[in-house]
Amino acid sequence: MDRIRIVGGQKLNGSIPISGAKNAALPLMIASLLTPETVVLENVPRLSDVRLLMRILGNHGVDASIDGKRAGQAEDSGETIRLSASTVVDTTAPYELVSKMRASFWVIAPLIARMGEARVSLPGGCAIGTRPVDLLLMALEKLGAQIEIDAGYAVARAPKGLRGGEIVFPKVTVGGTHTALMAAVLARGTTVIENAAREPEVTDLADCLVKMGANITGAGTERIIVEGVTSLGGCTHRVLPDRIETGTYAMAVAMTGGDVMLEGTRPDLLQAGLDALTRTGAEITATNEGIRVRRNGHGIASVDVTTAPFPGFPTDLQAQFMALMTKAKGTSRIRETIFENRFMHVQELARLGARIRLDGDLAVVEGATALKGAPVMATDLRASVSLVIAALAAEGETMVHRVYHLDRGFEALEKKLGRCGAEVERVSGER
Ligand code: EPZ
Repeated sequence: MDRIRIVGGQKLNGSIPISGAKNAALPLMIASLLTPETVVLENVPRLSDVRLLMRILGNHGVDASIDGKRAGQAEDSGETIRLSASTVVDTTAPYELVSKMRASFWVIAPLIARMGEARVSLPGGCAIGTRPVDLLLMALEKLGAQIEIDAGYAVARAPKGLRGGEIVFPKVTVGGTHTALMAAVLARGTTVIENAAREPEVTDLADCLVKMGANITGAGTERIIVEGVTSLGGCTHRVLPDRIETGTYAMAVAMTGGDVMLEGTRPDLLQAGLDALTRTGAEITATNEGIRVRRNGHGIASVDVTTAPFPGFPTDLQAQFMALMTKAKGTSRIRETIFENRFMHVQELARLGARIRLDGDLAVVEGATALKGAPVMATDLRASVSLVIAALAAEGETMVHRVYHLDRGFEALEKKLGRCGAEVERVSGER
């Protein structure tokens, strides 16, 4: 198992290309199950989650291939993936695969929509909370699916096909909205999705489905309307930039100081995150190239944030913002409202010297701490990267263990940071 070694104290200066969004690429890949034709996805990030999903889709009969690198193409630029589900050979998604990646549960929607049946392992809990799938199943039931739970599997049946219906989500769910969309596009009649997630990744999925021939209006708002069609075709779609990767590097620069251009990304994808960063004293400028982040001279101001569904402050940036706040003047209050157990980074940040008190869904961070390097490990992707950015601003050496979490969601992390002057290297093998 690899580790990442970081020696802190360098400012970040230069440019970082922002990859395609993991959380858009995954549902887009799953949507390829909806059509016998080829879906071509460009700008897919090179991540272990993407590789794993290719395997999972392969199990259902999806033929996946990755285009070769073109001359002059940067090593860390995204890949083009071709996915063809000409025949679905298996409608079961087994525990061994689904338990490794929760998002793979979403295959239930295209499978039942196209094949009239699906048997998908329940994903179980994970490090950041219980994460049930009740709302995803509710959405499918509203479209006429019969669902039963059998030996740890959700078994969905709609022998005569799905029909449109009204889905009212009692709470905003990204996966629920993805599932509802992918099921509704092939259902007979009209589906209305109320209290839909407005995350950019939902809009990206809807844009791709429309290119495939779906009839969808209102994606990006709370009310999405889908007119079902009888079949969908292939398309070519470019995965949108990763707003969480963008915000993570922006927070790293705010933490270490310096001047970095985050290339190929857009401020509208993470305005609430950028607003919070501006209040800390970082300078954020949107340009044609991307987003420029600077912090020179002055210190970091403490800022309170509360996570919320889009367009609010993203839960996927909460850990990174907490790392930043350990260096701010004064006290900041960070409230997590999306997942009940997403403070696993607190104990590890404390190993670097952070002073953070937890009270239910609230973390109170005492700032202006002189962080000092230490061995750390984390239990999820965003928590791991919060330790990386804290280490960049800490004195001395930090060894981040369990790097496989980072490899799930951050493409070429050490290269991107290294190019901006950070002292960071991957060390092979676990001691
Ligand atoms: C997506 O997870 C993302 N994953 C998560 O990113 C992200 O943190 C989350 O959305 C919130 O933005 C992917 O896109 C692959 P939800 P998802 O359904 O869809 C509750 C990362 O690090 N809920 O919006 O699973 C749920 O427990 C990951 O990249 C139910 O109660 O999240 C949570 O409290 C981590 N019942 C809330 O809703 C359900 O049936 C929002 O979850 C479904 C969800």
